[in-house]
Amino acid sequence: MSDVAAPSTATSLDVQAVRAQFPYLERPEGIVYLDSGASAQKPRPVLDAMYSFAGLHYANVHRGVHRLAIEADTAYDAARRTVAAFVGSTARETIFVKSITEGINLVAHTWAEQHVGEGDEVVITHMEHHANVVPWQQLCLRKGATLRYLELDEEGRIDLAQLDGFLAAGRVKLVALAHVSNVLGTRNPVAEVVRRAHEHDALVLVDGAQAVPQEPVDVAALGADFYGWTGHKLYGPTGIGVLHVRRELLADMPPFLTGGDMINVVDFQETTWATGVQRFEAGTPPIVEAVGLAAACDWVDAIGGIAAVHAHEEAITAYALERLATVEGLRVVGPRDAAGRGALTSFAFAGAHPHDVAEILARREVCVRAGQHCAEPLHRAMGIPATTRASYAAHTTREEIDALVDALGEVARIFA
Ligand SMILES: Cc1ncc(COP(=O)(O)O)c(C=O)c1O
Repeated sequence: MSDVAAPSTATSLDVQAVRAQFPYLERPEGIVYLDSGASAQKPRPVLDAMYSFAGLHYANVHRGVHRLAIEADTAYDAARRTVAAFVGSTARETIFVKSITEGINLVAHTWAEQHVGEGDEVVITHMEHHANVVPWQQLCLRKGATLRYLELDEEGRIDLAQLDGFLAAGRVKLVALAHVSNVLGTRNPVAEVVRRAHEHDALVLVDGAQAVPQEPVDVAALGADFYGWTGHKLYGPTGIGVLHVRRELLADMPPFLTGGDMINVVDFQETTWATGVQRFEAGTPPIVEAVGLAAACDWVDAIGGIAAVHAHEEAITAYALERLATVEGLRVVGPRDAAGRGALTSFAFAGAHPHDVAEILARREVCVRAGQHCAEPLHRAMGIPATTRASYAAHTTREEIDALVDALGEVARIFA
């Protein structure tokens, strides 16, 4: 798969029709929600699907033979197929977890627990979210392995030559990196990283938390061994994440959590495990949430598809970059060109703390996030204590970017 995100032939999005489906936009305050990178708002079809399933078709799954149990089983299994197909994966390789954080921990405690040992290396990058840092730190501490970081250039990009250097030593077992950075917006050349890593028998885990809501992703074509993402950033509910694992790896992976639903035979002292993805879904899974996430995938398809969402968000990001460049004292971090980045812009403001910036914006109902965005090592590497982030979605308009920039003008005046 190419590392370029979306085909240029995407159908265009009817943004006003999209906006009409978000209840929060009916509030009287005129909220400008530029915080979808933290968590997306939910459109009515997603809320309706969850309400209807929970009210009319609900039961626990994989347990009952009555009408409601069969309907719930059918809906849960269909949800897995829909969610897998949305990113070019298969149901047999798609595990439902609580969040991508849990998905990455699952890999760290199963495959990595077996395959990473003393003297081995795990490679991540300076731009990772803590979800893709801390599990690897802990693994390396447990195993006596070494955690190496790919550094970033001044536009926040990794250097494939540095990766080649790490791989050449032959000790790297895993490369774990974000598809799209949640702070810089950098889109990493994942297919190329996979190709290079596989040449040296290293596996690749991709954190797709920011990529899946923003651009077409084809997990099979990327070739990643593990690809994780999280439902609440794709207009779906909280409490559900997705981990795709290459089929050949799944068969040999030990379970992560143990208990009901993930077993084959339970004897007094020993237990055998279920096969396939069920081995990794101990206990009652997020059933209503799976239905909601599938509805979110269907909703994205219904509004024109993820390629159309991507084209819209790229245009919005280009406009935001252009307008933010006019604000005195403001510096956007990450790639300068909208085509090479995701739909968010994080910035530092000379003389103003990001929390003050966010508060001044909040007075005008402009919702952004301030702080380190769960990426403290990145901020250390950049030498900036914190940033303010505005992130964009299918419902974002140019007028909302104008509202952001107007409010930032007030920040500039206050801190001048
Ligand atoms: C790049 C990235 N990875 C991982 C996460 C963690 O997602 P969750 O809290 O849903 O596990 C986030 C959330 O902000 C993210 O942006």
